[in-house]
Amino acid sequence: MYLLIDEKGRHYLVRGDSDVHTNYGVIKADDLKEENIGGEIETHTGRRFFLVRPDALDFIKKAKKGPQSVTLKDCGLIIAYTGVRSGSKVVDAGTGSGITSMFLANIVYPERLTTYEVREDFSEIARENFRKARIDNIELKMKSIYDGIDETDLDLINLDLPEPWRVVEHARSSLKVGGFLVSYSPSIEQSKKFHDELEGFESETVECLVRNWDMKIVRPYSRMLGHTGFLTFARLIKR
Ligand SMILES: C[S@@+](CC[C@H](N)C(=O)[O-])C[C@H]1O[C@@H](n2cnc3c(N)ncnc32)[C@H](O)[C@@H]1O
Repeated sequence: MYLLIDEKGRHYLVRGDSDVHTNYGVIKADDLKEENIGGEIETHTGRRFFLVRPDALDFIKKAKKGPQSVTLKDCGLIIAYTGVRSGSKVVDAGTGSGITSMFLANIVYPERLTTYEVREDFSEIARENFRKARIDNIELKMKSIYDGIDETDLDLINLDLPEPWRVVEHARSSLKVGGFLVSYSPSIEQSKKFHDELEGFESETVECLVRNWDMKIVRPYSRMLGHTGFLTFARLIKR
């Protein structure tokens, strides 16, 4: 796979096995080769494209979306607040389109991440996304996490589902002491109900707002994403 970036900064992920037709003309498949990575190639009309080797994040950004996914800014907080790293043992639910699963699997690699989902249609979208991104350290289980967690000795259980408070008791036995239970909820009422079940955990709830700047006119863009969700980070300190 190759990542093409045009003069306006638009990204295109291409396989490289056929010519690429763009608004700026045709890129020949013959130009999409290993030795051109890191350089520039031209369309038949002479327009420039940068050729870059894609990484996991490029595939995650282009992944197909079914249900609402966690944004990258919120995924970033999960890593910062829990210290999850290569080798960490992680369970994630619900899978949805698998965006959070892919993001976390990329971090814990070569360890495997397990993700729980109840809907067949979403699991198919997620499996297709994992395949396209060539992320193969994810096990997708068709099971409600409200019925229990099979894995033990976990560093992190990450939740993005409607009733996270129904997972707290299972998390208490599946997490290491010192491990984290994280819940992402769009509504503060869900976060409060979750928070009130957290006996044996220390916790904090945060919201992350990112304001992008237009650096040509050196001021923030007038429009911004005002709200995504609340994140509660709960650390097990007593079983
Ligand atoms: C908002 S989506 C998750 C999106 C996901 N974080 C992503 O980045 O693509 C919520 C998902 O939780 C699933 N779900 C709901 N209840 C569940 C349960 N009890 N166990 C496992 N998954 C569940 C839903 O089917 C849905 O796919």
